[in-house]
Amino acid sequence: MKLILLIFICCSFMITSCKQEDNLKYKDKTVTIEDRINDLVGRMTLKEKIFQLNQYIFGVNTNANNIGETINEIPPEIGSLIYFSSDPETRNQLQKKAMEETRLGIPILFGFDVIHGFRTIYPISLAQACSWNPELVKNACAVAAKESKLSGVDWTFSPMIDVARDARWGRVAEGYGEDQYTNAVFGVASVMGYQGESLSDTFSIAACLKHYVGYGQSEGGRDYRYTEVSPQSLWETFLPPYEACVKAGAATLMSAFNDISGVPATANHYTLTEILKERWKHDGFVVSDWDAVDQLINQGVAGDRKEAGYKAFMAGVEMDMKDNIYMENIPQLVNEKKIPIEKIDDAVARILRIKFRLGLFDKPYTTIVEETNRYLQPASRAIAKQLAVESIVLLKNEKQILPLETALKSIALIGPMANDKSNLMGAWSYNGKEQDVESILEGLIKEYKNEVSINFSKGCDFDGIDEAGFQEAIKAAQKSEIIIVCLGEKKNWSGENASRSSIALPPIQEKLVTELHKTGKPLILVLSNGRPLELVRLEPLADAIVEIWQPGTEGGSAVAGILSGKFNPSGKLAITFPLTTGQIPIYYNMRPSARTGTQGNYQDISTEPLYWFGHGMSYSDFEYDSVRISSEKITREQKLIAEVTVSNSGKMTGKETVLWFISDPVCSISRPVKELKYFDKKEIQAGSKTTFRFEIDPMRDLSYVDATGNRILESGGFYIHVNGQKLKFELVD
Ligand code: GLC
Repeated sequence: MKLILLIFICCSFMITSCKQEDNLKYKDKTVTIEDRINDLVGRMTLKEKIFQLNQYIFGVNTNANNIGETINEIPPEIGSLIYFSSDPETRNQLQKKAMEETRLGIPILFGFDVIHGFRTIYPISLAQACSWNPELVKNACAVAAKESKLSGVDWTFSPMIDVARDARWGRVAEGYGEDQYTNAVFGVASVMGYQGESLSDTFSIAACLKHYVGYGQSEGGRDYRYTEVSPQSLWETFLPPYEACVKAGAATLMSAFNDISGVPATANHYTLTEILKERWKHDGFVVSDWDAVDQLINQGVAGDRKEAGYKAFMAGVEMDMKDNIYMENIPQLVNEKKIPIEKIDDAVARILRIKFRLGLFDKPYTTIVEETNRYLQPASRAIAKQLAVESIVLLKNEKQILPLETALKSIALIGPMANDKSNLMGAWSYNGKEQDVESILEGLIKEYKNEVSINFSKGCDFDGIDEAGFQEAIKAAQKSEIIIVCLGEKKNWSGENASRSSIALPPIQEKLVTELHKTGKPLILVLSNGRPLELVRLEPLADAIVEIWQPGTEGGSAVAGILSGKFNPSGKLAITFPLTTGQIPIYYNMRPSARTGTQGNYQDISTEPLYWFGHGMSYSDFEYDSVRISSEKITREQKLIAEVTVSNSGKMTGKETVLWFISDPVCSISRPVKELKYFDKKEIQAGSKTTFRFEIDPMRDLSYVDATGNRILESGGFYIHVNGQKLKFELVD
């Protein structure tokens, strides 16, 4: 009898708790996300709500330039963690506490800087833009998302889409170059790669657009500093990539460190609320950058942490990264009625919305797979290699010295980058491992096996004054038919907190080239760097210059394949290479000068850069015929078709990118000398030709945006520019 009674009691208890469970609408996956959000927010205490507005750190922050031990005590109610670990088991243990040891069981959102790959490291973003292959970038981001998800990361602080034109600023490495259209296209490709068809897909992670907004204008290239951004430049140059990516569904944004002409981005109601939420209707959330809320004090707009927290939150920053200001101060600010509870609820709802969309309430745990099946899969490596190959830019190739002669018997491979692995991965390659990377030397040995003797000699370090290695390097050069010098930057010379007053390489590297050039042997310069470099003294000494950027895990084999001719280079610069640091800022879409001819040019050096945005050579011989347009006059409602046919008269099949620009010589405001509006990359077989086509939509491609964000289309004359040709047409009312 007692047993029956006991069973009855247990069953009724289970039914009751299930009943309660059933009543918890927010746990019911058959209910709409908005209804689940409303139900949950309605159940939360203020304290529970404020936990959601905070992000703590789990692990050690080893960002190359900001090393620091930052492990917080992890309260299971915390909204988010920056997860400095790649162990899914640890993540699941933390998540289990959140799901089972808290009153409401709200999952933690695990974020991390997956900038150009998780463990399979892809070329840095600036290099990726030089591939002009958004589909390939999307595929790379999808792999990065899968490796992240399998490691316990649901959210990446990427893509960085800050238009940047000052190569003294180390973070030019992290974005997609100097042009807003390029940043928009590759930003969208990254968002699509990370987020997939749906955020709830098994291997989707949430994207985070950063750093919102104008960070790339850091004055003098000095990180964290003042940015002068006029309303006109804000709308014309810096906002377009964000607008495109928000419209593509980017889940989150990160507010930047910089101030925008005096109003810090992290306390800027105009950009964070009026534009992002009210105008663009973004329904995700904004996380501050690391300590950026606290830094409002340094920036002089807050007298203390409480005021900093108040200003950031009221401006539209929903989540506070790392400095704990929201945790400490929002309860009091709500009690003092300075922050209305409705605004708290809206912020919490935005964060919960992304967690629900990611499926974290229903699938809070990472599926554990064998580490060997988590990373560096053959398909992932293949994408890494293809992207490295297509990102490489052939800057110079005198007398077609490249690809290397097949009859070659000996190569001198010299320089600090020649057998380096770690620096090939570039900044923000936290989970990348040197052991996975193939050096240029290893790539060449594999490429040439023992048909060609490769005489390696490092020659010198990246910097310093020690020339002791020069003699051995010169000997290696003297006994070889050709010299390949591999120079460049260490990975922490670019990225965050990596401003440099000069973009020249250290003198020791330049001197090595000068000494090697004296041997009179053909000399090929291979550069691995995270920013445009000052090459004014090196360029004349090199017969060929190959910009490999920081190509990642598959860099060595990609470079070897380009040098040998197995691969045909197809990269084109997404950022201008100044002749010298003194020319900065210099970028292709500047506004026209008030004076023509040479007036206003530098007296001491050329005013032309060494290589313009869009420069890049191929082993093929691409010839453009005359650009054609479907009409010389169009109305606003009509489209204009522009076409150009490109022939490949060379011996090698190759890929060519056609960049289409528009200019408006007479307008209510002074428009840039030309603006990229479309691009297309196609393979053209040797001896054949292909037609490239650009369908111009007047409102999209001919209009400009004014200082209030209104798009304005004025009739009149326009030019279309392609490969040095320009053709006039008219927009008539
Ligand atoms: C850093 C960077 C930002 C990064 C964040 C988290 O300071 O500015 O790009 O995503 O902190 O590491």
